[in-house]
Amino acid sequence: MEPILNVKNITKAFSGVRVLKNVSLTVNRGEIHCLVGENGCGKSTLVKCVSGVYTPDEGEIVLNGQRFTKLTTQQAIQNGVQVIYQDMSLFRHMSVAENIAIEKIRAKGARLINWKDVAGIAAEQTRKINVKIDLEKEIFECPIAIRQLTAICRALAHDAKILVMDEPTTALTKNEVSQLLTIVQELKSQGMSIIFISHKLDEVFSVADVITVIRNGEKIGDYNRAEINEKRLSELMTGREIDYPRYRRDFTENTPLLEVKGLSRKGHFNDISFTLRKGDIVGMIGLLGSGRSEIAMSLFGLNPIDSGEIFVSGEKVSIAAPQDAKRRGIALLPEDRFREGLFTDLKIKENVSSTVIDEISPRGCLDFSEEDRLAEKCIETFKVRAPSRETVVRSLSGGNQQKIVIGKWVETKPNIFIMDSPTVGIDIGSKAEIYEQIHNFAKNGMAFLLISDEVEEILANCNRVLILEKGRIKTILEAQDLRQPDAKKLILEEIGSRDLQPDTEPSTK
Ligand SMILES: Nc1ncnc2c1ncn2[C@@H]1O[C@H](COP(=O)(O)OP(=O)(O)OP(=O)(O)O)[C@@H](O)[C@H]1O
Ligand SMILES: [Mg+2]
Repeated sequence: MEPILNVKNITKAFSGVRVLKNVSLTVNRGEIHCLVGENGCGKSTLVKCVSGVYTPDEGEIVLNGQRFTKLTTQQAIQNGVQVIYQDMSLFRHMSVAENIAIEKIRAKGARLINWKDVAGIAAEQTRKINVKIDLEKEIFECPIAIRQLTAICRALAHDAKILVMDEPTTALTKNEVSQLLTIVQELKSQGMSIIFISHKLDEVFSVADVITVIRNGEKIGDYNRAEINEKRLSELMTGREIDYPRYRRDFTENTPLLEVKGLSRKGHFNDISFTLRKGDIVGMIGLLGSGRSEIAMSLFGLNPIDSGEIFVSGEKVSIAAPQDAKRRGIALLPEDRFREGLFTDLKIKENVSSTVIDEISPRGCLDFSEEDRLAEKCIETFKVRAPSRETVVRSLSGGNQQKIVIGKWVETKPNIFIMDSPTVGIDIGSKAEIYEQIHNFAKNGMAFLLISDEVEEILANCNRVLILEKGRIKTILEAQDLRQPDAKKLILEEIGSRDLQPDTEPSTK
């Protein structure tokens, strides 16, 4: 085996707090190397050291046999390190082909751009990963999955030797994830090394050669995929056994809190009817284009409906704007939290209080101690890993940012909480904590509509599931169906999706 990257005893601190402690790592040529660990354990910081974005305080990085104590981003790129960032950093108003080729052409020092070259370079890269994309389309018109493929092709055009993917699958649907994992494997067979970060252990197990576990800034160990299983890996990541207890609804009162009858929005969803009672956690699952997020947005007044009726606590209501929804006790945790859910330049406490600013500002004057109290409660309830409530949200790890969004919506004390993919990017341990909170709120009478891609999440939380296909409810599964041993298989079949790996666990040595 030929090492292409050696990280040696790296330590990195922010404002005196050490977030990486003496971490070492070896990545070999043609290896898929996964990094796993809880939110805030230091995964992104580690890869930012490898790509030259951060300079480690101690330690060195050996790339292609060359030693660096202060690696710059330029040197990282010259040595073949390419990072696919979550926002992909693409030019929105350029075509796919231009995005793929432009940097390579610029690097060659060309003063005039030959558009034939652009098309040629782009086509060559897409061939390497065996995909057909419309190269002429402008990026802003492309869905996330295509943007990501564009970013991968751009990295290939740069002669990437090490491709870093930090949670590349969070915004993808199940089928897109499968496609991406196939591409990752294809690149590996061409000799590329890949550093892959994900909280979804089924993805990790389906691609990894080696898995490195990081806990609290320290490396716990490197494991070959064949010598470890999901259960053991979870324990190594969290230091405890993770178990997701199932939710049971315990109410005899069945009057509906929310009743939706024949809801339709042309081109998005059709004839949707369901009921949420006190303490219900109703799941909504279905592939891309099934209309799930669109239904959520219409119920929150973000998209008008064409026909249908909505009743809240028996009263027919019109929800034309989010204010109407809020007034009726409906909250929405949006799918695209980074655009719609957070003020990243503000502090934790300012984010948490933002949804209830009127309530905690008697006579128009903000009650600062109440704001502090709410922030502390959120940090404690969701175990947010942050130095203090004064911390600016931008400096939190991805998963911890997400917990703040959930926390701030909970503060509005909704009766009906619509959650669109609440635990994307959340580690397995924190998921257990979030599920526990959802169960507690439901036991106190809150009703949830839980949109999710993960069958495990649906099974752990829901007492009824709506399976959607092409904008319509295809099947409804009740609590007794969900308790059957083959419930997972049944749901996967209904949504027409294959699981990433067979149900059998890899052997443990
Ligand atoms: N620029 C920064 N300034 C201050 N603190 C930072 C900065 N970047 C990261 N941190 C802190 O370093 C720690 C590690 O963060 P990092 O983003 O590496 O975690 P992660 O393992 O990627 O987590 P996640 O799974 O949530 O993405 C966190 O406590 C985070 O708040
Ligand atoms: Mg991260």
